[in-house]
Amino acid sequence: MIILLRPRAGLVLSLALSAVLLSASVPSAGAVDGLGDPVFPSLGNTGYRALAYDLAFDYRADSRTVDGTAVITVRPERTLARLELDALGLAVRAVRVDGRPADFATHDEKLSVRPAEPLRPGAAAELTVEYTADPRAKLPHTGWVPTPDGFAVAGQPQSAHTVFPNNDHPSDKALFTIAVTAPDGLLGVANGELTRTERHGDGRTTRRYASRLPMATELVQVSVGDYTVRERTGPHGLPLRDVVPSSRAAELEPALALTDDQLTWAEAHLGPFPFEAYGLLPTNTDAPDAFAFTGLETQTLTLYKPNFLRRPEPEIGPHMMHELVHSWFGDSVSPARWSDLWLNEGHADYYALLYRYERGWPDTRGNRTLTDRMRYLYGLGDRSRHGSGPVAAPNAANLFDSQRYTGGALVLFALREKVGADTFERIERTFLDRHRYGNASTEDYVRTASQVSGQDLGGFLGDWLYGLRTPPMPGHPDWTVRPAGEAEPQDGVRVAGGAGVARGSGTL
Ligand code: ARG
Ligand code: ZN
Repeated sequence: MIILLRPRAGLVLSLALSAVLLSASVPSAGAVDGLGDPVFPSLGNTGYRALAYDLAFDYRADSRTVDGTAVITVRPERTLARLELDALGLAVRAVRVDGRPADFATHDEKLSVRPAEPLRPGAAAELTVEYTADPRAKLPHTGWVPTPDGFAVAGQPQSAHTVFPNNDHPSDKALFTIAVTAPDGLLGVANGELTRTERHGDGRTTRRYASRLPMATELVQVSVGDYTVRERTGPHGLPLRDVVPSSRAAELEPALALTDDQLTWAEAHLGPFPFEAYGLLPTNTDAPDAFAFTGLETQTLTLYKPNFLRRPEPEIGPHMMHELVHSWFGDSVSPARWSDLWLNEGHADYYALLYRYERGWPDTRGNRTLTDRMRYLYGLGDRSRHGSGPVAAPNAANLFDSQRYTGGALVLFALREKVGADTFERIERTFLDRHRYGNASTEDYVRTASQVSGQDLGGFLGDWLYGLRTPPMPGHPDWTVRPAGEAEPQDGVRVAGGAGVARGSGTL
């Protein structure tokens, strides 16, 4: 199949292409079966939907391994004599389907299960997988973050299935309960609310957490460490709880205290915070290889490198806002496919930058306003498209390039300049409202923008999202684009000062 991408035709072609890629009936020549995601074709599985995960993690301090039990409720979409889960690096001991032992085998990054009897369409079935995992295992990619006193999880985008077997694609969100057992002296935490604490007689304690709202597998957080929980109350009584290494609680307090006011600001722009609680999890490692970025928006409990949060407010505030905004864009409204990542990162950066310049904090290049910064980014537009592809057409190698971040923010700025601030705000609210607790694609965003503004924005946004050249910026005919060939580092690739390589929200 040969597809010629021209800017104006790009959106339509991409729609057609993704329809082909998402159709389960297309055989994927020799490749491992998956949901056909444009970025990670073999992620996820067809034939069923996951409804709920009931996970248990038992941390063994002596071996530093984790015994896991995953109870997964699935709803078959057709008769299934066999079904697959994503799984990598899990030593599976037993699989049961509705309580009966089932045959299983692993291949590639899949766990194949053959129930004693085929599953019937529409009839929910319960899969139980017992396994052991080693957070320190060397795998081609991993969602485990080993720490000196335990572990945390960073599954985005394709590694949650190294932590538990699952249908590892954000389009299959589900409800989660997570039980974490740790030896006394350590604390087990996970997304959502603490619902029960059970002290066993043998010096171990199990804490159970429930997420009342759907979650994508990539957003699961489970952590064990020598932690202290700091609870406070945010706007209109929202429970805030930070989980911090006990020895660092005092030095991290100034950063953690920022969340309350940040929530008020974010809610003024985006509407009520979508989840039952919020907080930060600065885990107990700053090792550059523990995870290759600064923060990760694991639902209701954002993972952080602790050293980053010791910096002055103008350096950390915009980044904390970026992660907070992911609660709306990314966690509540999750991408339909990984190629829609700019919807997460572009929005998170857009609001983080708005927040920065509103506060009068110039960036590291001396820009003092959002418009100044956007003019600078506009100048890099062709180079970003050349080096990282169009904003909404990433591949696995350039997925987290700044093109999805500040590149996405530039698209949103262009839209705001085109339709005006009031209409832009209505587009944002309508989009969040329509897709709350679900998924949305780039086409969904374009459709909402067109409907709310009352103008067909398919061509305009198609050029901005899929074009290989930077379109004109509405209202700024004097803005110029530098030649694509000029070499210069991408905007926002690194965080200065050794917080690690920050593919992602780098220099906000
Ligand atoms: N989503 C994270 C952020 O908000 C970045 C994660 C980068 N992930 C990765 N696998 N490189 O900044
Ligand atoms: Zn982000």
